[in-house]
Amino acid sequence: MRSHYCGGINEAHIDQEVTLCGWVHRRRDHGGVIFLDLRDRDGMAQVVVDPDTPESFALAEKVRSEYVVKVTGRVRRRPAGTENSNMPTGQVELLCKELAILNASATPPFPLDEYVDVGEDVRLRYRFVDLRRPEMINRLRFRSRVTSYIRNFLDSRGFMDVETPILTRATPEGARDYLVPSRTHEGAFFALPQSPQLFKQLLMVAGVDRYYQIAKCFRDEDLRADRQPEFTQVDIEASFIDEQTLMQLNEDMIRSLFRDVLSVELPEFPRMPYAEAMRRYGSDKPDLRIPLELVDVNDLVEGVEFKVFSGPAKDPKGRVAALRVPKGGELTRKQIDDYTRFVGIYGAKGLAYIKVNELAKGAEGLQSPIVKFLGDDVALAIMERVGAEDGDIVFFGADKATVVNEALGALRVKLGHDLKLLTCEWAPLWVVDFPMFEETPDGGLTAIHHPFTAPSCSPEELEANPAAALSRAYDMVLNGTELGGGSIRIHDETMQETVFRILGIDQAEARAKFGFLLDALKFGCPPHGGLAFGLDRLVMLMTGASSIRDVIAFPKTQSATCLMTQAPGEVDEKQLRELHIRLRRSAKAAEGNKAEGDKP
Ligand code: AMO
Ligand code: AMP
Repeated sequence: MRSHYCGGINEAHIDQEVTLCGWVHRRRDHGGVIFLDLRDRDGMAQVVVDPDTPESFALAEKVRSEYVVKVTGRVRRRPAGTENSNMPTGQVELLCKELAILNASATPPFPLDEYVDVGEDVRLRYRFVDLRRPEMINRLRFRSRVTSYIRNFLDSRGFMDVETPILTRATPEGARDYLVPSRTHEGAFFALPQSPQLFKQLLMVAGVDRYYQIAKCFRDEDLRADRQPEFTQVDIEASFIDEQTLMQLNEDMIRSLFRDVLSVELPEFPRMPYAEAMRRYGSDKPDLRIPLELVDVNDLVEGVEFKVFSGPAKDPKGRVAALRVPKGGELTRKQIDDYTRFVGIYGAKGLAYIKVNELAKGAEGLQSPIVKFLGDDVALAIMERVGAEDGDIVFFGADKATVVNEALGALRVKLGHDLKLLTCEWAPLWVVDFPMFEETPDGGLTAIHHPFTAPSCSPEELEANPAAALSRAYDMVLNGTELGGGSIRIHDETMQETVFRILGIDQAEARAKFGFLLDALKFGCPPHGGLAFGLDRLVMLMTGASSIRDVIAFPKTQSATCLMTQAPGEVDEKQLRELHIRLRRSAKAAEGNKAEGDKP
């Protein structure tokens, strides 16, 4: 139908006849002539319709925003003084010979020709209109470039794209499963994969050697800006490979991707042990653009009278940490109160601080509600340890280590942004040497990565002291976001059984859930490992979007619904019966549905 995209015409086409198709972005009636800004996925072109073409002119008078039209005409230079250097097509316009209205449009739910602050609910409900906005369609285009680059990169290194099932059994990645009832097997359910983890390992047993897949994953978990119930992984696995080679390969891929599509030269990725990341940044995904660090002061405050500090300092699971903020002494009381409320979200019971007015005056030069409880010597020793200077503020967290890490870790990032302390645009790193397990609230152990991750020790050593064991896992972190994670896997049956035992999965349960994996380990499983990137997160960071919803064509809301299709939806009784399902409705749901039903 068309000869060119709207965004593609320029001075090279002057005097040529072209045909454009697209949506009417804006119509301007200038008395004698009508201007149409015509938009398609590639950009915008100005069309001039004048009364010399009476039929087209009559049609142009009828045209409204978002009508779909086809225009044939001659490209000409815009009259002097009317050029628009902000537009790639801004030197030219199309003099209409023939206009055809291909389809009308109802008034759009929000205007596209001016910036208006539209609620996300409306944007999601009318996503097909929202996606017409250049920033949205450009993100989709960008995402497509990223996947295409990644495919080429992995293809050229001998990786094979293999699809794995969506209707499958549960894969433990730490979230709840989405279940699909089976019609043919009464009472039985498929689970949607939380990741292709087990299948990619089985592909290694099968000898595929190098696998990748751009794979949909499903996790029923609490949603945030960087989490969706259904998201995409760039999933990778390889055999006869160690963690160094795997990390290098993936680092090369990300660095060359940034170079190719963003013209950004990322630095080499430093490698930081998990323990160091927690100690210095309170997080296993530290944002290294921010120069603030946590400093332990447990030993200095163990003996003080101030129980808020001495209690956690003496508790083996406690932590007392200081966070020095250069020039933070200028923070007002109100700002400090706001930060105190902020750390409260993470469970901190307060936010002690010391303002450093003039160190030369000793403790006299410190301004703080807590110096009197700590004693001058301790306060000054802390100042020395954190390297305090006049004009700084030093914040403190004292609690269980998990609370202090979360609270001060988040505060560090917030202060970094609020006070504009970022030292660079991109700060990637690898976090390595994760513990194998972490404690659950009920005192048991759970796998930090997943139960197929290999430990760095023998089965005997693992069994003897599981809590201290490290794993062969690695995470790639960029600007404080976990972009991807993976590990060298267990390829030995005894080791896999040991891990299941430590996790409290007995033999019968292991057989029932993962019998196929244990079987595969018996039949010549090669040493292997891999990782998976969150594609949505990668594209979010690369495009500067603030949520992964903005880089997904049809995302779900925070409460895991689709406002456009109204999914999840109710199904009729017959369908439920076929699936052998009878609903047990909570009183609240029944009430909600009744109210829905009452609507006209
Ligand atoms: P993991 O669970 O760490 O590892 O997931 C890998 C990456 O996927 C992304 N991600 C998500 N993105 C959006 N929404 C979500 N709900 C979500 N959950 C995870 C993150 C994360 O780093 N099978 C292992 C990988 C492996 O061991 O090879 C796995 O799934 O960017
Ligand atoms: P309080 O003795 O509770 O009045 O606390 C004195 C100071 O210590 C206040 O500035 C509190 O914000 C702070 N504070 C209280 N609990 C903690 C905690 N767990 N970690 C850090 N600071 C705290």
